[in-house]
Amino acid sequence: MSSENRSRIDLERLPVHIAIIMDGNGRWANERGLKRIEGHKKGGDVVDDITTYARQLGIKYLTLYAFSTENWQRDPEEVSFLMQLLADFLREKREKILNNNIRLNAIGNIDDLPQLVKERLIAVMNESSKNSEMVLTLALSYGSRSEIVNAVKSILRDSSQGKISVDELTEQRFSDYLYTKGMPDPDILLRTGGEKRISNFLLYQISYSELIFVEKKWPDFTPSDLEEAIIEFQRRQRRFGRAKSII
Ligand code: IPE
Ligand code: IPE
Ligand code: MG
Repeated sequence: MSSENRSRIDLERLPVHIAIIMDGNGRWANERGLKRIEGHKKGGDVVDDITTYARQLGIKYLTLYAFSTENWQRDPEEVSFLMQLLADFLREKREKILNNNIRLNAIGNIDDLPQLVKERLIAVMNESSKNSEMVLTLALSYGSRSEIVNAVKSILRDSSQGKISVDELTEQRFSDYLYTKGMPDPDILLRTGGEKRISNFLLYQISYSELIFVEKKWPDFTPSDLEEAIIEFQRRQRRFGRAKSII
């Protein structure tokens, strides 16, 4: 990370929540004549670097899209490699997460994950539950449409049991039925790998997020690229639908 960039970040106006679609692992590997899984391996190291940097900078919420509901349709070999990588990540990074006062969180259909991944995930989530410096959220078997449909199903169930009425359903109450309950909406949604799409990520939550698309593929993404993204975010003017006063 360059100290020059660091001084260009206004620490008083840091984004509270950064969400990242970590894309481009497979293409990164293929470009090098490697198998896609090599890209995922390198991508795992980048997760560590970016998390460490975000924690040092003082980012409060970092949310990483690691596996989508649609990603189950990939070649079974790739899927099982990704699941093993996740299990290894949880074992290897457990101590670092705990020592750095990071709370691990997960969003998605966690029950779909292999038993070993699920056990390790829940164990680290429980052990880190009192940590307070940063919330690291992994989106695993996550799909925004399924999140929204599940929320509606829970609301209907609660409604039939008299726990919520039509008039009581507000935007705030609705968001409490999402996996992201209690989390602020992302200030930045960043996607690496050059594609300019959302791919079923946080559709409800990104209503007013600043979208940043970078060409670099995830295995090449560095802390200084994240700095650049934060600087870009700080250059933008967020209006949330209000008009900008010119006087
Ligand atoms: C992102 O990289 C990682 C996951 C989706 C698990 P990809 O695997 O999508 O890599 P590309 O986009 O095919 O290059
Ligand atoms: C989005 O990337 C999911 C993750 C990064 C985990 P994909 O590679 O699955 O998205 P598409 O297929 O390009 O839309
Ligand atoms: Mg991809």
